[in-house]
Amino acid sequence: MKDGFGREINYLRLSVTDLCNLRCKYCMPADGVNKLAHADILSVEEIEGIVRAAASLGITKVRITGGEPLVRRGILEICRRAAAVDGITEVCMTTNATLLREFAVPLREAGVSRLNISLDTLNAERYRELTRGGELADALDGIEAARAAGFGRIKLNAVLIGGENSDADIRALAELTRGGLNVRFIELMPIGETAEWARPRFLPNSAVLKAVPELTECGSDGVARLYRLPDADGTVGLISPVSSHFCPDCNRIRVTADGKLKPCLHSATEINLRGLRGKALTDAIKNAILIKPQRHRIDEGASGSLRNMNAIGG
Ligand code: GTP
Ligand code: 5AD
Ligand code: SF4
Repeated sequence: MKDGFGREINYLRLSVTDLCNLRCKYCMPADGVNKLAHADILSVEEIEGIVRAAASLGITKVRITGGEPLVRRGILEICRRAAAVDGITEVCMTTNATLLREFAVPLREAGVSRLNISLDTLNAERYRELTRGGELADALDGIEAARAAGFGRIKLNAVLIGGENSDADIRALAELTRGGLNVRFIELMPIGETAEWARPRFLPNSAVLKAVPELTECGSDGVARLYRLPDADGTVGLISPVSSHFCPDCNRIRVTADGKLKPCLHSATEINLRGLRGKALTDAIKNAILIKPQRHRIDEGASGSLRNMNAIGG
């Protein structure tokens, strides 16, 4: 359906857990997260009900997010049920890839069609530092497992962090497009408790074009402007939520793991979906779409959202 500004809303981002097996500095505070109580997390049945209601309003694409969705118990069942809902043509997932060795094949079998993978550096030491203890080899193994399982059009998401991403780091990631992967660089958004950490580290996406000057523009894809290295199969995407926001083309809504619908990533507005069924649930989603704000104001310095990224899912 269309929102109040005429935008067609057809994409639901569904966070299935606030937990993660990593602790990325831009996503979570050092002392970890205020873990949601088990009873506060949407059940598999509630998630299925929300997807059904959303599909009846014109949602066709569901992206499963987290935290890290693969640490959620019942994740395969969630994917299976979402993919089986009438009107849902695509179930995708955004993951840090570290558990894909175990999950890549079952995810394909559960009906997940596409994976986006969060990987900010190919330097093992930096990876360990940025994720506060993660092993780069686990993520790389996971990516290989996903490719072996037949996932195509994989997109790697790398957040740009000033003072930490060297030009060599950016180049190494961009070079992965020669191996058929797509790589997208994302501007760091100051959000939640890590906003103060993020603000001085903002690096505009133009840094990528400076580090890899032979990139040439070749179109756009959803939220990313696309570029290509000479002779590469894959594309380099630049996602610039801060330096040039894409709100006029926004097609998405979000549901948090505790069942709150967020009409906009950067707004504090949340609509409770828990405990609702049937018409009440559909009406709540419809009303939330109708009050989706025209744009966010993060380019003016602050996200209006009070949650940390791990509780929203990006
Ligand atoms: P595709 O289905 O491949 O188009 O995925 P996607 O780009 O929608 O999803 P992904 O989870 O890979 O998100 C990529 C990045 O874009 C993340 O950093 C998100 O936080 C950011 N992002 C996604 N949606 C929005 C949005 O509505 N507003 C802003 N400002 N950033 C967003
Ligand atoms: N700014 C930009 N991107 C972020 N992500 C998480 N936190 C932030 C932030 N503060 C990215 C992750 C993941 C995607 C869903 O969101 O790296 O790829
Ligand atoms: Fe986990 Fe992704 Fe947050 Fe890193 S950015 S802590 S991988 S949810």
